[in-house]
Parts: sequence; C-alpha cells; structure tokens
Amino acid sequence: MKLADIDLLNMDIFVEGVPHEAFKLLRKEAPVYLHPEPNGPGFWVLTKYHDIEKASQDFSTFSSAHGVVGMSESEYGGAGQAEGGSQDGGDSQAQGVGAGQELMMLNMDPPHHTKLRKLVNTGFTMARINRMEAAIRKVTKDVLDTVASKGECDFVTEVAAELPLQVVDELIGIPHEDRHKIFEWSNRMIGSADPEYQVSPDATMNAGIEMYAYAEKLSAERRKDPKDDLISVLIDAEVDGDELTQLEINVFFLLLSVAGNETTRNLIAGGMLTFFEFPDEWTRLRDDPSLMNSAVEEMLRFVTPVMYFRRNATQDEEIRGQQIKKDDKVTLWYISANRDEEVFPDPYRFDVGRTPNMHLTFGAGGPHNCLGLNLARLEIRVMFEELIRRMPDIQQAGPAQRLRSNFISGIKHLPVKFTPAKVEGQTVRAAPQTAS
Ligand code: HEM
Repeated sequence: MKLADIDLLNMDIFVEGVPHEAFKLLRKEAPVYLHPEPNGPGFWVLTKYHDIEKASQDFSTFSSAHGVVGMSESEYGGAGQAEGGSQDGGDSQAQGVGAGQELMMLNMDPPHHTKLRKLVNTGFTMARINRMEAAIRKVTKDVLDTVASKGECDFVTEVAAELPLQVVDELIGIPHEDRHKIFEWSNRMIGSADPEYQVSPDATMNAGIEMYAYAEKLSAERRKDPKDDLISVLIDAEVDGDELTQLEINVFFLLLSVAGNETTRNLIAGGMLTFFEFPDEWTRLRDDPSLMNSAVEEMLRFVTPVMYFRRNATQDEEIRGQQIKKDDKVTLWYISANRDEEVFPDPYRFDVGRTPNMHLTFGAGGPHNCLGLNLARLEIRVMFEELIRRMPDIQQAGPAQRLRSNFISGIKHLPVKFTPAKVEGQTVRAAPQTAS
C-alpha cells in the first residue's frame, strides 16, 4: 500500500473492516497528512497519539464550533453521506439531523460549551453512576433472559443494543415501550450511508424531525408532571438567567440519546467479536475474573467505536513541520492513536491484562471528553460479567455485518450460539437512578 492508495472517504472499505494498514502507513510516513477530497481543499488526518492529545486539549486553536463530524463536502457513500452534525456550508449533514446543530454542545467551544455541559454533568458523576450498578445488572439479566433458552441469537440487536438503549432511555426519561423508536432513529442517523438504515433519501433528515417532535411531546408532559430524569432537568435549567429554548432541549435530547446508545452498543458487539478472534483471551478472562477491569479498557482500546472527530483550525499552526492553515479541517483519528506503536507495545495484540492502557476512546482529555464514560464502562463491565457467567461457551455462528460508515466502527449483526442457559427469572424491569 502507498499513501496515494489511502482513501478514508470510501465507505465501502469500512464495510470490510477498519483500514488499520492505512493508519499504520500514515503514522509511519505521514502522521500529519493532507488527505485529498473531491471538489474541496482536503482535510488533515492526524494519526499519532500525542498529536491528537495536544490538538484535543488546545480548543482555542482546534475549534469544534464548525461541527465535528464529516471530513469532506462530498463524501461518496450514497445518500446522506454524513453521519453527524457538521456545519460545513453546503454540507448535507446539518439538515440531515435537523436544524439547530450549532446549539449542540458537541459543536461548541468554551465558554458557552462549559455552561451547557454543567447542566448535565451532575447526572453522570462517578458516585451517581456507581449507584446504578444494581439496576444495570437487572436490565442485563433481563436482556440475557430473553435469549438464554434459545441457544442462539443476533448478538447485536438482541443483546448489545438493548442494554444501552434501556439505560440511556431511563436516564433521559423515555418510556420503556418507546425505546425501539430511539433505536431506529439513531440507526438512521449514524447509518446514513448504510443501505440497511438509509431506507429513503430523506431517512436521516426525517429521523431528526421525528426525534425533535418526540422531544417536544416529552417536554410538554414533563412540564406538567416533572420526574427524576434528565429531560426534567433540562426543562428547569437556566443558562445566564435564561431557560433553554425548546430547540435547545431538542438538540440535547438528540445528542444524549444517540451518543449514549450507538457507541456502547458497538463497543459491546465489537468487544464480543474481538473475543471470537482471540478465543484464548476469553478463556483467560473466564478463568481469572479479576482481569475484568483491564479487559474492559482493552476492549475500549481495541474497538474504538468513535473512530474520529473533526476540528477546524482557528489560526495557522505547524505540526511536525506541516503547515496547517486557518480554517483547515483537522480530523483526529482515535482509532489510530489507540494502535500507536510508540505508546502501546504490540498494539495489534488483544491483551485483557494490558496495563497501562491510556487509550483515547473517550477523547483525549479536552473539554468534550465523553460525558458518559463512567456509565459506558459500567455497562460494559456488567454485560461481560454476566455473559461470562451465563454463556461461557458463546461462539460466533455466522459472519459479522459491519456498518457502512467511516465515522462509527459499528457492527449491525453478529450471529452467535451458546449452550442454552436457564432463564433466571423475570426480574422487575429496573429503573436506574437518575438525576437528583
Ligand atoms: C463506549 C461508549 C462510548 C464511546 C466510545 C464514546 C466516545 C465519545 C467521544 C470520542 C466523545 C468526544 C470526545 C472529544 O471530542 O474529546 C464523546 C463525547 C460525548 N459522549 Fe460519549 N462515548 C461513549 C458512551 C457515551 C454514553 C453512554 C453517553 C451517555 C449519554 C455519552 C455521551 C456523550 C456526550 C453527551 C458527549 C459530548 C460531550 C461534550 O461535547 O462535552 N457517551 N463520547
């Protein structure tokens, strides 16, 4: 492979798997690389751990205020090329997820970002999340109960997707029976270039519109009858003495519900698939459960569900001798940083005992570092504890189908089989504790 062969805009490549060879070559030969784009000036690709760390933390030079998803004005990939909320002029992404993307905290810089982030921070502190463990375990047991006796299932739709959906819905205040609406809307947004989810040219845009309408309905209900959930917190919240507008609430709703379930789902599914590829590590973990915490971190490093986020340069800047110009697009490839051989010895080896393991899967310590990282870690740990206990012989039963996306490393379907396990009893559906 040569540098000229690398094409991060070609989504079809990602259906086959993450192009690790391309990232390896970039780290070695062009760690700060100006990737060409059709009909545009190109975008910078940062692939080295420490460069990404520095750029993430230097938010005044590398701004989020022009959107953080999308590299090119014209990513080829069929309808609705975009998966997120870019603000690039003319880019379809902003419309793709509904109006108001500039109001989303993900697409902002401090100081306004800090004010919005504070509104929800308290719902996600370590202490609060730790108190959710029993409830998360109940949800996990219920999810596994529904498939246990069958001896086979689609691990993604029936297991990996269910836990994060139910947990994040409880936090936000979405009724249990509506959770599959959220599943479908977020699939349509994240999978906007995937033929399975992009069922019509407007599917992504309509998902955004429907989600906003849903958020409005839920807000109206909570205005009359507040509950102990995040939507009630947002309705009550004030920034600089002003209440949030309904559009701001809608945008928050969309961010929390999509960010909270797609990522964790793909980590659980990707983690399981990785264990199928490294069966000795499954046996090792099964025999020594004290490795669970380091196994969770290693799954996070290895899978890296969010492959990159973008920034825009606010001034000229030099990195490793390359001249980045004001307004240039700069993409930060966490998936590459997590295999940087200067930081991780033997980076392609999946090692459930790896320590230290300072992966950048949740970001690199900048202002946008993942809000839900404690929650995600807890969900992943509980899920794998229960899987190991109840389905110790779980095996892959067919090929994994990967999401057609150059943004999320996702798995849509993963057939598995296991010795049918006992249903452990219909537990009452759990309600994780939410905001105070
Ligand atoms: C394995 C699961 C997850 C992964 C890989 C992940 C990854 C990320 C990454 C890479 C960022 C951006 C970091 C940066 O720009 O510095 C982020 C931000 C964010 N994440 Fe997560 N995330 C996960 C789970 C969750 C969960 C469970 C929630 C809960 C609702 C959540 C909510 C958010 C929010 C709201 C932001 C935006 C924060 C901001 O703009 O200040 N994430 N996440």
